[in-house]
Amino acid sequence: MAYVNENYLKLPGSYLFANIARKVNAFKQEHPDADIIRLGIGDVTLPLVPAVIEAIHRATDEMAKAETFRGYSPEQGYDFLIEKIIRHDYNSRGIELSKDEVFISDGAKSDTANMQEIFGPDNVVAVTDPVYPVYVDSNAMAGRLGDYDSKTGKWTNLVYLPCTAENNFIPALPDKKVDMIYLCYPNNPTGTTLTKEQLKEWVDYARENKAVILFDAAYEAYITQPEIPHSIYEIEGAKEVAIEFRSFSKNAGFTGTRCAYTVVPKSVKGYTKSGEAVELNALWNRRHSTKFNGVAYIVQRGAEAVYSEEGQRQIREVIAYYMENARIIREGLASSGLKVFGGVNSPYIWLKTPEGYDSWQFFDKLLNNAHVVGTPGVGFGPSGEGYFRLTAFGSRENTVKAIERIKSVRF
Ligand code: MLT
Repeated sequence: MAYVNENYLKLPGSYLFANIARKVNAFKQEHPDADIIRLGIGDVTLPLVPAVIEAIHRATDEMAKAETFRGYSPEQGYDFLIEKIIRHDYNSRGIELSKDEVFISDGAKSDTANMQEIFGPDNVVAVTDPVYPVYVDSNAMAGRLGDYDSKTGKWTNLVYLPCTAENNFIPALPDKKVDMIYLCYPNNPTGTTLTKEQLKEWVDYARENKAVILFDAAYEAYITQPEIPHSIYEIEGAKEVAIEFRSFSKNAGFTGTRCAYTVVPKSVKGYTKSGEAVELNALWNRRHSTKFNGVAYIVQRGAEAVYSEEGQRQIREVIAYYMENARIIREGLASSGLKVFGGVNSPYIWLKTPEGYDSWQFFDKLLNNAHVVGTPGVGFGPSGEGYFRLTAFGSRENTVKAIERIKSVRF
């Protein structure tokens, strides 16, 4: 008999964004003429920049000739890309990394979901709440979270670190010992950030407790305030305790092209039950080379072009375009009396739903009355109840139209 992994049976409903898509499709069937504006899933809408497209074309031509054709990429990625990443994203901020500490992959979603595999099954996991659902669901699938309680919307063995307007979205250190800590800054979904001093508390906690921080920096390119850290390795001691995830999806429009990277410094350790220290880099390398066969050469050349002078100039323009959308959303909603957060160092705007509406009621109201799709905050965790997320990744025209429509809805 083929037994199933029963942890899968404990998962509530479907993946958040699949759930939303289902609701929107049902609405579309009933209202085929409705002009629906989607500011729900954080997917980009502008095309890849010319520098990237040119590099992809050149690489495609290379693949057409026997002399320049490439088969399997190294599982960890090509040196030409890794070298640019280290120089541009780390050395420029005073952070030293060696090439074998960077792993090219097809996405931060898969890496953040897969990284838990190299950790033991009885580690205690902590997440900020609300949170990107992938960290939670992947640990639930591995059996690390106990049972899901549908009344509280919580997993019995997961430590939730509430981030709400009441604490300025700054998570407090846990009151029990935790081993794996997921932090995402700039934050998805709240769009908020932590200062170096606030992050340092987490690094110190991890060092004292031999814990590991899984730091998702997928949105770092959206930071506009100079004092906000772009990498956790800007914090002293972080290279002993933190793994960092980065992506080309949000900074360079690779959501459909797929390229990302993960940094696992050799100095980050996990422990055996008998207390022996083990390099997580070696474990991740083993996992990555066993289960992954590298990102397409063509795509890695496209990602490399992001670091060219032209590429940098072009992606900055795209980011500025989305951040202008963020401003339009933030200021538009605030002027209509809604309480808004984020959107300054992040493409996400997090808003408090008006009196009398929970997250899903607000979702339905916007869909029905404004034909605008956002993401219900409670879909990101229990502390997201009463909040709602909009993304700045739409077109300018749609963003302006969506905000005008929302402003005209009576709540
Ligand atoms: C989101 O909407 O939170 C993102 O699109 C999710 C992702 O990047 O996978």
